[in-house]
Amino acid sequence: MTRNALVPKDEFLNLHGLTHLCTGGESPWLRSHDDVYTQFATLKSSGWRGRETVLSRVDDTRSGIGQLWNVDAGRVCFMPAANEGMNYLARGIDWQAGDNLVTTSMEFPSVAWAWRDLAERGVEVRFVDPVDWLMSEQDLLAAVDDRTRLLAVSQVSYYNGQNLDIRQLAEGLNRDRTLLAVDSTHASGVIPVDASLTDLTISSSYKWMLATTGVAACFVSERAEAVARPTAWGWNNLQYGAPPNPPTTPAFGMPQILEPGNTALLNILFLRNGLTTILDAGIEKISEHARGLAAEVSDGLESLGIEVISSRETASRSGNTCFLVDDSESVMAALGEKDVLVWGDRGRIRLSTHLYNDSLDVARALEAIDSLKPT
Ligand SMILES: Cc1ncc(COP(=O)(O)O)c(C=O)c1O
Repeated sequence: MTRNALVPKDEFLNLHGLTHLCTGGESPWLRSHDDVYTQFATLKSSGWRGRETVLSRVDDTRSGIGQLWNVDAGRVCFMPAANEGMNYLARGIDWQAGDNLVTTSMEFPSVAWAWRDLAERGVEVRFVDPVDWLMSEQDLLAAVDDRTRLLAVSQVSYYNGQNLDIRQLAEGLNRDRTLLAVDSTHASGVIPVDASLTDLTISSSYKWMLATTGVAACFVSERAEAVARPTAWGWNNLQYGAPPNPPTTPAFGMPQILEPGNTALLNILFLRNGLTTILDAGIEKISEHARGLAAEVSDGLESLGIEVISSRETASRSGNTCFLVDDSESVMAALGEKDVLVWGDRGRIRLSTHLYNDSLDVARALEAIDSLKPT
């Protein structure tokens, strides 16, 4: 079966003549973002009148995230980067000596190490190992006990693309005791994300969401809000009036309470535009497409004799398909010489398939990879 792009490559800048399989690192730029920028510039020049329109578009973006993630938009805030979601829990939970949290030893640093200062307070971080590069949900749940305050994972692994079964994790926890926090950066925009199963879901915007850095949408459940207090205050989350204001000035609730100052308004409008592309294409269709191409990548690599470290099961696949190689940076650069863009670092190569990719991209990448093998 030959898969055609779901969204034409022409809708992005600079894809002509390029095999772009590296959205897991950085997605290409939508041409329609140019209009977003021009509109923002015009609105910004219109003082308070423009500001109201910008803020109403920010609210549209919350609604779009709510729709994509199956949650109430009123519980979606915008943070500056995905690491901030986990760091908010690290700072805000009333951790006690003897508490623990569970994560994986294959995690992205922002998920694995947001807790590094907690050791001083007697909190244990439990790193569960994968087996043959695959994480088992059962092993994660087996590491949880009655002192586990949090289970923190990426839905899709940045390292090998495995998509964890978030429902299984959610149902396997005693949720009155243990919060579930998920970094969905490598899932959101390419495969379904159900944040309603979690206490916190956060995603960066510059990869599969087709926008850029500086903004990370974050869902926070009522349970998490009750357990983790806010740790930053500013003009945007306090209900202040004309001075003087008392130190007890009341705070706003969600979502503003976690947005103490201005959010990255222009970047949120880029996110709104990326979301429109994703919602119009339909997340189920995108997911089927990206996973179908991932299967083509995986089968093709195996036929070249390259061992893939990503799952072969559809449900635990994603848009990322990965293999190990000693000098990953050099392989990435050598493929780049052939105008094939993949991501390579820390001993593995990652090929990412998204809505603008097609079977021809996969064939070209496989041919280029094959040509690098010593003869
Ligand atoms: C799982 C995961 N989260 C977050 C990020 C980076 O996002 P941010 O810079 O917004 O924290 C990455 C980048 O590779 C990632 O793989």
